[in-house]
Amino acid sequence: MKITIKKAETLKNHPEDSGLGFGTFFTDHMFNMDYDPEKGWHNPRIEPYGPIEMDPSTMVLHYGQAIFEGLKAYKTESGKINLFRPQDNLKRLNNSGHMLCMPALDEEFVLEALLTLLDIEKDWVPGTAGTSLYIRPTIIATDPYIGLRSSNTYRFFIILSPVGAYYPEGFDPVKIWVTTEYVRAVRGGVGEAKTAGNYAASLFATELAQKDGYTQVMWLDGVELKYVEEVGSMNIFFLIGDELITPELNRSILSGITRDSVIKLTKSWDINVVERKISIDEIYDAHGNGKLKEVFGSGTAAVISPVGNIKFKGKEITIGDGGVGPLAAKLFSDLMDIQYGKADDPFNWIIPLSPMK
Ligand code: COI
Repeated sequence: MKITIKKAETLKNHPEDSGLGFGTFFTDHMFNMDYDPEKGWHNPRIEPYGPIEMDPSTMVLHYGQAIFEGLKAYKTESGKINLFRPQDNLKRLNNSGHMLCMPALDEEFVLEALLTLLDIEKDWVPGTAGTSLYIRPTIIATDPYIGLRSSNTYRFFIILSPVGAYYPEGFDPVKIWVTTEYVRAVRGGVGEAKTAGNYAASLFATELAQKDGYTQVMWLDGVELKYVEEVGSMNIFFLIGDELITPELNRSILSGITRDSVIKLTKSWDINVVERKISIDEIYDAHGNGKLKEVFGSGTAAVISPVGNIKFKGKEITIGDGGVGPLAAKLFSDLMDIQYGKADDPFNWIIPLSPMK
């Protein structure tokens, strides 16, 4: 398929890197492609960034049949652009699509489309340490119909947003809040899919956490309300003694690409990494007997985010001295060094953007 390109007539001013924050600025162009059962995925095009006009009955607006991804492009010191594990994001997008009854995308073609878009927008990749261009591929259901079924037609789009740190705390430790009242996902549900509804389901409890002075909710499993699943927008790791533990993928947890990178990196450092069920009681016991050394989250937006405090059933614990632990600090810097091209890439995670003809 040939990608048609229509350039914007006027270009936007670029924000200062220091004022980027997360997710509020968008570049000049976006990628769009449509699906219908006769033509399959068709009409791939790069066009000026702009609103998507839709009928008020459009299915995504009513039933949330929507999936998305988050990945980043980084500028190296020499001005080259690196993409981090994009094939893994596209594979996960198709997995989410499968769970939401959506037609699969050709991952190789979408990678080519993304590289073409990035080549046009490369000046938007910010260069200051800790900044990047966040990439949001999304598929939405577009049938104008309000009966409940999966849509026959879809729009796939990619938008780009120059970003700084996700949390206002930056790399300072965040405070997390554990609830036994609300759950994010249940066994047999769509917790593993990166679908809009999972994030909508997290909002109410997150607001309660924030009112109580905490940044994010740590979700427990939706069946026994006992085992840790994930935290807000991140997967979660616990260093207990010399074992690094992260909840096993049980189909209600998002299969994080940063999570997988943390596992691979720490294994290569001979750290004993274990994917298993871990209960909130085990975490509190480990804290009680002095074995809970570090807690940190991992995610594309959040990168590595140390956790300083956890509150569960009214009891708050402080992890270590409440500061950034050495393992989280090493992971943060080693991962970023790979992403920004400052270190070797032993796992072949980087896809460099090569200039296009
Ligand atoms: C990401 O980390 O890329 C996400 O999609 C999380 C989102 C809440 C920003």
